[in-house]
Amino acid sequence: MNLLELKPITTQMLKAVVELDQLCFGGLWTMAGYEREIDSPNADLLGLSLRGYPVLIGMGCLWAIVDEAHITILAIHPRYQSQGFGQFILLAMLRLAQKRGLERASLEVRTSNKGAIALYQKFGFKTAGIRKRYYSDTGEDALILWKGGLQEVEFVQNVTTWQQELRSRIVKDTGYQLRVH
Ligand SMILES: CC(C)(COP(=O)(O)OP(=O)(O)OC[C@H]1O[C@@H](n2cnc3c(N)ncnc32)[C@H](O)[C@@H]1OP(=O)(O)O)[C@@H](O)C(=O)NCCC(=O)NCCS
Repeated sequence: MNLLELKPITTQMLKAVVELDQLCFGGLWTMAGYEREIDSPNADLLGLSLRGYPVLIGMGCLWAIVDEAHITILAIHPRYQSQGFGQFILLAMLRLAQKRGLERASLEVRTSNKGAIALYQKFGFKTAGIRKRYYSDTGEDALILWKGGLQEVEFVQNVTTWQQELRSRIVKDTGYQLRVH
């Protein structure tokens, strides 16, 4: 049986993590950087993989800072993009943020990254501001996106519903089973 698994990343997966980082961000964080996230009680680092295969399909990372979930990483392997996996990991991170009791989520995204911006907006993220020339490689601005009300009953229910709908869509489209640990 082909089984997709979304689970906390462990040190055994670090090689695949760095490879995915290289593919999606051109080397944003080092292996030591990711190792720190694994060890940190204030970070959640999730990986999506196909059981038995060494390649990581996607990953997401959030930092819990006071009452805020700061989303630092969301990446899907180029071969697996546009199949709902990015949304699925984002929703799993929002669920973890809710379980941690966090009130809001925020992140920075390149102003040119229309796909990612559309993804976040779909789940209620709004623009909170701009960080001028935030990205040192290109000098590009960052859009600060923000979502409040993570603990509101309606939003908690929405996240559950969206996760269920997306799970059905992914299982139907890929023919794989999907397990969240
Ligand atoms: C951004 C990224 C994580 C999206 O992951 P994905 O698995 O391809 O996205 P999904 O298939 O889950 O799509 C999510 C939604 O975002 C929107 N979206 C995604 N790509 C889009 C695009 N190119 N243009 C417009 N909307 C897009 C759609 O609303 C889509 O929902 P739909 O499929 O129901 O229409 C992925 O493209 C990626 O890893 N990019 C490189 C790294 C990166 O830029 N990360 C984000 C940094 S903040």
